[in-house]
Amino acid sequence: MLREFILCSIIFCMETQIKKVDKNNISDYIKVFQEAGDLIKSGELVAFPTETVYGLGADALNPLASKKIYSAKGRPSDNPLIVHISDKNDLDTIAYKDSEKVDKIIEAFWPGPLTIILNKKELVPMETTGGLSTVAIRMPSNIVARKLIEFSGGFIAAPSANTSGRPSPTLAKFVFEDMEGKIPLIIDGGSCEIGLESTILDLTTEVPSVLRPGGITREQIEEVIGKVSLDLPKSENEDFHPKAPGMKYKHYAPKAELYIIDGEDKKVLDYMLKSLDKGEKVGKKIGIITTIENKDYLKSGVVKIVGTKEDESLVAASLFRVLREFDDEGVDFILSPSFANVGIGVAIMNRLKKAAGNKIIQV
Ligand code: TXA
Ligand code: MG
Repeated sequence: MLREFILCSIIFCMETQIKKVDKNNISDYIKVFQEAGDLIKSGELVAFPTETVYGLGADALNPLASKKIYSAKGRPSDNPLIVHISDKNDLDTIAYKDSEKVDKIIEAFWPGPLTIILNKKELVPMETTGGLSTVAIRMPSNIVARKLIEFSGGFIAAPSANTSGRPSPTLAKFVFEDMEGKIPLIIDGGSCEIGLESTILDLTTEVPSVLRPGGITREQIEEVIGKVSLDLPKSENEDFHPKAPGMKYKHYAPKAELYIIDGEDKKVLDYMLKSLDKGEKVGKKIGIITTIENKDYLKSGVVKIVGTKEDESLVAASLFRVLREFDDEGVDFILSPSFANVGIGVAIMNRLKKAAGNKIIQV
């Protein structure tokens, strides 16, 4: 304890403040934005809410500030950051619009949960792009995020505000769990509506490709610009080298081992019930992810309801929160059903498979 305290005082520990803002009364909180904006302009880190997940923000044009993000997260330095803007016109300052598809995409989906990859201009330091000549850019719809960007000079580099490898935070308290003592300020703007990170679309290639599935689906993008490919492994065993460096890392992992149970609803439920029985006999605590339809059947274990089978957006919104809650409750194993691999379900299954290290049990 004493050793930790001394280490903490020597290495980083600063006091981490949490300041609440109400996104429906943003003008009452100008002081908070001024303070946060000044911190970012001076090279510090500030965590803030977006409609997807909380971001860990720094001045994207300041190489030393970007470097701080990597050390606070424990993130490999080859994994580039997303630059967040609050005004569509600011895109021209940092990137080239090489394709006519760029304007169509921006018109259709910004502000919102879509990140685009473009060739970068000189102004963006390599520290922000992990050494790449391209840059990821997003204009969030969350008003708190946009206000902060405005007060910070217009360009905030921000990965998700979790320690590298952990589930992305969808509440300020989860940011605090991971970032306490490492950053001066967290802006608490409540929960993130979407709950999974933005879709990433690479627009630097002839046929654009989705590098990470998210809130905006491939089908929605194809309606606007035609054919789009999907940069995901075709099978679980494929030797796959993703174009988004971050997609190769183990991610979203809760502390307990997670298994995806795939099959007909009834068989999945039976498997879960049997596992709960077995778990009880050998003194293991089992966490169950399920939908409201199964609520009355699952009477033991640590059961988390994540919305309904019909509305997968609710599942997306609560997935990362429940993975973190299982950590707090000290479960030994987690079982989750698989979800339909269409629409937002593609993003849910992508995160779930990563969290499970691809452990899927067919029933
Ligand atoms: O919703 C989101 O996108 C959140 C919020 C805070 O905006 N941010 C987020 O950032 O998820 P992060 O750093 O956790 O994920 C960014 C992903 C990584 O997989 C990274 O490798 C990829 O974007 N990326 C960034 N720049 C890239 C580039 N130039 N080329 C390819 N992939 C890139
Ligand atoms: Mg992340």
